[in-house]
Amino acid sequence: MLLNNDGEKKGQQLNDGSMLLREERQAIELWIAKMGKQHFFDTPTQRMTSATNTLNLQYEMIGNGYNRIVFDLNNGYILKVALNEVGMISNANEAYIYHNCREEVKKYICPVREFGTGWIIMKKMDTNVRHALIDYTKLIKLEIIFLIYGIVPIDLRIANVAFSEKNEMVVIDYGLFTMDLKSPVLRWFV
Ligand SMILES: Nc1ncnc2c1ncn2[C@@H]1O[C@H](COP(=O)(O)OP(=O)(O)OP(=O)(O)O)[C@@H](O)[C@H]1O
Ligand SMILES: [Mg+2]
Repeated sequence: MLLNNDGEKKGQQLNDGSMLLREERQAIELWIAKMGKQHFFDTPTQRMTSATNTLNLQYEMIGNGYNRIVFDLNNGYILKVALNEVGMISNANEAYIYHNCREEVKKYICPVREFGTGWIIMKKMDTNVRHALIDYTKLIKLEIIFLIYGIVPIDLRIANVAFSEKNEMVVIDYGLFTMDLKSPVLRWFV
């Protein structure tokens, strides 16, 4: 990505309202194609290095988990790119849940702005852990709310929550949540 004197993005913007430039989308496509060919026993570190080198995005990396690498788009949004198959599923699942869940639970999950194969753009949330320590009981309440509204909140834990401007606890990683009680993910737990 190129920046002009005002720090604005320069490059080919697709006129589909996307926050990403054409080149950035192409770099993600290239990485996803490469990712599929990565050696099964690559270490997570090797995978991360391979991903960052191929993506070559000029955004700051603000986080990563086992399955996704997260960049700050500097406009109040973040970009998550898959590092493996689970990351691919998680991105698709978050887009699905956000667009199909009951209105009542939407305020508890991080809003999705746009998504494509292997990537998703979400609102940037405050991940300051100090709140999280105080609000441990909120996590349990949240778990119950999801269950009431037909979502099984698999992998809901402190590392996967953050806070909105209104200081509300919001889930930022709901990639393994399911609205489908026959989901194969649930079979891991029984
Ligand atoms: N919406 C967000 N706003 C701010 N930071 C975020 C956001 N989403 C993710 N992050 C940061 O990136 C990290 C990794 O994101 P995420 O948990 O979604 O990845 P993952 O690979 O699915 O994680 P896991 O290892 O739990 O499966 C988070 O712990 C957090 O620090
Ligand atoms: Mg996570």
